[in-house]
Amino acid sequence: MRVTINELKEMKQNKEKIPMLTAYDYITAKLVDEVGVPLILVGDSLGMVMLGYDSTIPVTIDEMLHHTKAVVRGTKKALVIGDMPFMTYHVSISDALYNAARFIQEGGAQAVKLEGGEIVAETVKRLTSCGIPVMGHIGLTPQSIYQLGGFKVQGKATQTAQRLIKDAQILEEAGAFSIVLECIPAPLSKLITQKTSIPTIGIGAGPDCDGQVQVISDILGLYTDFVPKHAKRYARLADEIKVAIADYVAEVKSASFPTMKHSTPMDENTMSSLNK
Ligand code: KIV
Repeated sequence: MRVTINELKEMKQNKEKIPMLTAYDYITAKLVDEVGVPLILVGDSLGMVMLGYDSTIPVTIDEMLHHTKAVVRGTKKALVIGDMPFMTYHVSISDALYNAARFIQEGGAQAVKLEGGEIVAETVKRLTSCGIPVMGHIGLTPQSIYQLGGFKVQGKATQTAQRLIKDAQILEEAGAFSIVLECIPAPLSKLITQKTSIPTIGIGAGPDCDGQVQVISDILGLYTDFVPKHAKRYARLADEIKVAIADYVAEVKSASFPTMKHSTPMDENTMSSLNK
């Protein structure tokens, strides 16, 4: 049985911190799941770290579903959340319902995430009333970088901070089971976390959120194009991978790989008959 949204609420009530990670493929998702991470987000960040786009905006729902299916196949225990890409939930509520249902039915995810506060409240209400659990996402919402003027910390002034508090409360009332708080000042996240009864999951939002999310390629040191300030590297896999590849190339060039250990021998009589 996978982790449920009720269990996450209990974790908040019991003050048990909630770790969450992104994953985009079968192998990585399997490792994350085996370690026991309860929440896996198939983030639209895959557009940048897997597909090489310079923002999340070009990511399509078909690309998201392709990766979501792989992550679901690799996991047994974690609750898998599919990130609804840009403009797949804004045009109309029926569009949002149709696209969210694709994540659940085709992708096999157990929940979806969408960006925005009050503006998406009606959509969150409809999705949750149709049985689709929704995670909210406020603060720095990367699908709005053109409107926000770039990847900037949000909620530093009184008015914008009040807006974020209100958005979090509206999302909770609309039925969201949890909210990502991205790049907002730590004391503001603490206040939002106190004012809501659903778990807040922070990224660049300080230590007082109920949980934390990171992009897997950032913590593993795999994505080196850009390392956000809020990311901590727990490994340097890009360096290790390059060393392994260079070793392989050197061994192929020097003919020291493969050896007979990696090859199939053949019966000598058969061989000599071939040489006649
Ligand atoms: O797409 C993503 O990876 C995200 C997380 C950073 C929360 O939205």
